[in-house]
Amino acid sequence: MTDAQNEPKKLFIKTYGCQMNVYDSERMAEAMGAKGYVLTEALEDADLVLLNTCHIREKAAEKVYSDLGRLRPYKDAKPDLKIGVAGCVAQAEGEEILNRMPLVDLVVGSQNYHRLPDMVAAAERGEHPVDTEFPAEDKFDLLPERPVQARPTAFLTVQEGCDKFCAFCVVPYTRGAEISRPVSRILSEAHKLVEKGVREITLLGQNVNGYHGEGQGGAWGLGRLVRELAKIDGLDRIRYTTSHPNDMADDLIAAHGEEPKLMPYLHLPVQSGSDRVLKAMNRKHTAEEYLRLIERIRAARPDIMLSSDFIAGFPGETDADHQDSLDLIREVGFGAAYSFKYSPRPGTPAAGREGVPSEVGDARLQELQALITAQQKATQESMVGRTVGVLFEKPGRLEGQWIGKSDYLHAVYVKADGIGQGTLAQVRITAAGPNSLAGELL
Ligand code: 5AD
Ligand code: SF4
Repeated sequence: MTDAQNEPKKLFIKTYGCQMNVYDSERMAEAMGAKGYVLTEALEDADLVLLNTCHIREKAAEKVYSDLGRLRPYKDAKPDLKIGVAGCVAQAEGEEILNRMPLVDLVVGSQNYHRLPDMVAAAERGEHPVDTEFPAEDKFDLLPERPVQARPTAFLTVQEGCDKFCAFCVVPYTRGAEISRPVSRILSEAHKLVEKGVREITLLGQNVNGYHGEGQGGAWGLGRLVRELAKIDGLDRIRYTTSHPNDMADDLIAAHGEEPKLMPYLHLPVQSGSDRVLKAMNRKHTAEEYLRLIERIRAARPDIMLSSDFIAGFPGETDADHQDSLDLIREVGFGAAYSFKYSPRPGTPAAGREGVPSEVGDARLQELQALITAQQKATQESMVGRTVGVLFEKPGRLEGQWIGKSDYLHAVYVKADGIGQGTLAQVRITAAGPNSLAGELL
């Protein structure tokens, strides 16, 4: 037997899109780890390449196909190399991917990662398995336990799928109906993460504040789950993302004022500031209702940092509608926000509607982004002189420098002795850059 045969097989994973995919990629790496695969960052060493894909906008989906094209020479050089497509493009396009890209060996939808090891084995036998069913079993129950974390922060998926059917969005089709994991499973996963050194957990779900998992005495909302998680010793910070305005329950809002471990940052996408557009998007709330909601959240936690998503150039959006979005951004004062040009997605209700001219969409996107950037800059600068908690995650590029995240999710750089991975300390902010803050230990 040669040495090469004794070496563990190597897995290269590329993750596109949201944090849910980041979490899923980790779980897939663990599933393959149980079969002896180790992760590599060098494509040329890989025996298995997995692209964990995103279907949210056309650009994201097309990037997958161009990346697959770029894998051709690696497969030519190493014919045993197996290539798998996972995630939302896999879920949405299934078999079609094999037709369009014959170099792909397997296609695994986002609900079937527990079947990945068997699918890889089938691919090794020369088959081309495709699995995009929505299975009855919970993939997370069947995936192997999570190994030692090397980081002080972790994601934990508590909810998947979406029943909201916003007119532009593929998520209800790619991730399926809303499902909440039971409270007991989440608590035991959280306990294990904390035992392994995790100090901050971000609860994930496409519609995370719609969480309604089975717990003691019936279905629990996210507020109750957060309060229960906060009782775990050694867990210092809790976050959650992404939320829908219509699911901000009173108890969750109250938790922001009462539970110090719940961090003062909330991503609450509104998509547009125009009631006409919100209606056409099937958002089921008005701009005014969103603003009143923000007032209530700020009443509970005055220093909360808010962020949002906006879509520019949704079909039927007029200049006046676009101005309404700009007005709403001015009124709220977001600490961060993300804006996207509308991208028609196959199978969604808005895809068949007449769109606004592409260049109009581009111009509106630029305007949104300029305003958002200015607001973000002002928020960053307003942090100078303030003292915030920072959880340090990794060394910076400069000698003795560490990078962490503030309570408000800013990247913060500090140069000081005594900081290590997982140190949680009070930091006085001394300077603000466009994307990060500098500070000194108190
Ligand atoms: N076009 C543009 N942006 C979209 N988003 C979702 N679907 C589309 C689409 N078809 C944006 C929304 C959502 C974020 C994750 O992506 O703003 O909140
Ligand atoms: Fe998509 Fe709307 Fe569901 Fe969010 S709430 S995942 S935008 S359908």
